[in-house]
Amino acid sequence: MLRKEQNDLLTQAGPGTPMGQLFRSYWIPALLTEELPENECPPVRVKLLSERLLAFRDTQGRYGLIDEFCAHRGVSLWFGRNEDSGLRCSYHGWKYDVTGQCIDVPSEPVESGFCRKVKLKSYPLVERGGVLWTYMGAPDKRPPLPEWEFAMVPAAQSYMSKRWQECNWLQALEGGIDSSHVSWLHRSDLESDPLFKGAKGNQYNLKDAQPHFEVVESPGGLYIGARRNAENGNYYWRITQWVMPSFTMIPPRGDHPVHGHFWIPIDDENCWTWSFDYRPNRPLREQELAVMRDGQGIHAKVIPGTYFPIANKENDYLMDRAAQKAGKTYSGVEGFAMQDASLQESMGPVIDRTKENLVSTDNGIIMARHRLMRAAKALADKGVTPPGVETAHQRVRSASVVLPPDQPFKDAAREELTVRPGVAHASV
Ligand code: FES
Ligand SMILES: [Fe+2]
Repeated sequence: MLRKEQNDLLTQAGPGTPMGQLFRSYWIPALLTEELPENECPPVRVKLLSERLLAFRDTQGRYGLIDEFCAHRGVSLWFGRNEDSGLRCSYHGWKYDVTGQCIDVPSEPVESGFCRKVKLKSYPLVERGGVLWTYMGAPDKRPPLPEWEFAMVPAAQSYMSKRWQECNWLQALEGGIDSSHVSWLHRSDLESDPLFKGAKGNQYNLKDAQPHFEVVESPGGLYIGARRNAENGNYYWRITQWVMPSFTMIPPRGDHPVHGHFWIPIDDENCWTWSFDYRPNRPLREQELAVMRDGQGIHAKVIPGTYFPIANKENDYLMDRAAQKAGKTYSGVEGFAMQDASLQESMGPVIDRTKENLVSTDNGIIMARHRLMRAAKALADKGVTPPGVETAHQRVRSASVVLPPDQPFKDAAREELTVRPGVAHASV
């Protein structure tokens, strides 16, 4: 349970808010590279952290993320012309480069130098691992580029998708670090989804619906350990990584690709759910890629030409009561992604956390909230760089392992919880 002011602090990420400042300390995913596929392609509207921006790729292939609106009289530059190394407003022809600098005001004599005094807000936009990343904080505090393993491996080993989610970023993140719901909500899918089925760990998951949680602070966030009974008195551990502010990596299953998410605020009532799948030691197989593109595993089927799910709030997520009754799906909604999103969106755009009744399996959520609040306050009051900005904090892995009962998971799986280039994840 949180007090109202704590809930507000955690859920509001617009300009000038403490969580907004926190998010502006990191490189965050802004677009898929595929959204700007070639030089002079159409610009793309991007709303992030409650700021309305426009992304474009100019004649030389340079990426820019600038204020969506023209400095002249506020027209949306989405209607503009992407030509000759800049974006020209369709209203009166003012033109901007990828840094937001105005480079032409046709009505004014060139000698006046007027256009040099006009500059739109802009943020860097950099490609890495199929994603265009942006950093929306103070230029002098700009950290090194992100080094998440999925973005560092060769392109053939990694896949990324994104989908619009109609709720605040925090309730989506809280679903991502809540390992206990897997034995309920997703139980029917563990053995049917092509990106989950067949792993030995699934049996431990399904047999023991009362996992014991041990949550331990990591340099960048938390290790969230869920312990279930295995054979001969040993324990099956699933160790999720959460790195601030909103990166998660789900423990792997068998030889399947390893997946995880970012949740990035669009505004306070919507977020982008970014979903990655990768293998550090081999290219993704053609059939794995095919089912990912088809919206299976943690990905979602989206309306063609958009990143908006086909199953959504408007159509009750295509609820199938017969499938629910038959146990084909546990909730009646199909697929991991929309099972999660349907329930998280059902809480309303921003859940009132003053009314919750938390239990011991919510420990990861409780600790993540406190770590976020602490970091946001330390940044606002003393300018302390938050955890997760350092690239060393990003070189982490999730793991699933069977351990003897007397070994703390954090020590016993220390190596497995960090990146070992080219070596497969520890997985059961
Ligand atoms: S509003 Fe853009 S040029 Fe006038
Ligand atoms: Fe889930």
